Amino acid sequence: MADVAGDTLIIEGQAGRRVINGSIRVNGSKNDAVQAIAAAFLFKNGLTLANLPQIDDVQKMLWLAKDLGAEVKISGRTAFIRPPRMSRATLDTEIAEKIRASILLTGPLLARYGSVTFPHPGGCVIGERPIDFFLAGFRQMGASVRHRRGSYEVNAPGRGLRGAAIFFKNQSVTATETFLMAAVLARGLTVLRNCALEPEIENLGRFLRHAGAKISGLGTPTIIVNGRGLLVVHRPYQVLPDRIEAGSFAILGALLAKRLEITGCEPSHLQALLNLLEEIGLRIKTGKNKITVLATGRKLKPVNLKTHEYPGFPTDLQAPLAVLLTQAAGASVILETIFESRLNYAKTLISMGAKIEILNPHRLAIVGPTTLTGRKVTSPDLRAGLAYLVAGLVAKGRTVVHNVHYIDRGYERIDERLRALGLALKRF
Ligand code: EPZ
Repeated sequence: MADVAGDTLIIEGQAGRRVINGSIRVNGSKNDAVQAIAAAFLFKNGLTLANLPQIDDVQKMLWLAKDLGAEVKISGRTAFIRPPRMSRATLDTEIAEKIRASILLTGPLLARYGSVTFPHPGGCVIGERPIDFFLAGFRQMGASVRHRRGSYEVNAPGRGLRGAAIFFKNQSVTATETFLMAAVLARGLTVLRNCALEPEIENLGRFLRHAGAKISGLGTPTIIVNGRGLLVVHRPYQVLPDRIEAGSFAILGALLAKRLEITGCEPSHLQALLNLLEEIGLRIKTGKNKITVLATGRKLKPVNLKTHEYPGFPTDLQAPLAVLLTQAAGASVILETIFESRLNYAKTLISMGAKIEILNPHRLAIVGPTTLTGRKVTSPDLRAGLAYLVAGLVAKGRTVVHNVHYIDRGYERIDERLRALGLALKRF
């Protein structure tokens, strides 16, 4: 496929030399920003969002809001969204099927307007990405669900959604967020059980409560909402720092820095990663909104890693961490428990010289240290793409990464920000 301008990175590898000695600032969280854009539809007169990252998935969500008829005013990292008056909401298929986050709009739209039509959401190809929890939950809240011509048509009864007792078969981030939002406008009590515990969910829930929603149980697996109708708020929603971006930079620092300071982050959201980096042999210092990664001169130690729902080790950092483990002296094992196709990056790392054995779709073994050699690679998804970028920076020789648009989905101006750390990479 002909390269789109700006969709290729050429990286001059550092052959493992610790060339970084600097600081990098973290942007707003992709996964907090996209749910906050959906939450704007719960507010009578709209919502202002602050600290939005300027990344592709956020642009797409703002575009979907505008396409629904909302007034959307963007100024830098701030956006104001005023929902429209309408009787039914239809998500633009072209855009909604490209991002998983579009599913977050369905709860607020159904709860506010009584009817929503949407395609199966897209997103990174890291597994099936089913939406059975959403369709079952809407039915439990009294809605009818039809699948017609590739779209789902969901309609609430005349009096709107009713509160329900919903038990999620496993912890789902976007399902928890979607039903937390829908419940705010539903009639009566909703009890959500086996909720995900991500900090973004607590950030949203606290903000909704500040705006008048009756919510208890935030930060626990059971969230109770007493639906009270449209909300009114007079302060902006402050998007959290992106913990996955911060973690990705910490892993880069672990590989290539004498000292890397990561500012504007929330260290308490990254306990699982920071503990692991110390186990591997890095020195980690944390301060207010700051993480410092320091080389110790000791060999990197292998570890066994199991991804887990928050606060466990995040699946979104699994691929970048695998790159670090190719440089550890000994055998490591990674067990990916959340998604069924999130080890696909291993083949590319093997082609760069990594010693990796894929034991099954959920488990792989890595023996290091090995010298990685640069080559042409193609990003299959957002986090694997970041892992290839990191691998190219560690490798000897030149790496060309195609499909950089996947990396742009979650990391703002990644090449400029890494060049500012003294790394040699150019976008073409
Ligand atoms: C969210 O995806 C994040 N995306 C993902 O980040 C993250 O990797 C994931 O949570 C897990 O932490 C956003 O927040 C936009 P899930 P989500 O529902 O909500 C199964 C990134 O790179 N499931 O928590 O789609 C599902 O298959 C992205 O930033 C059902 O079975 O993930 C998975 O096995 C990638 N039925 C498990 O639950 C459903 O209806 C957890 O998935 C929904 C989910």
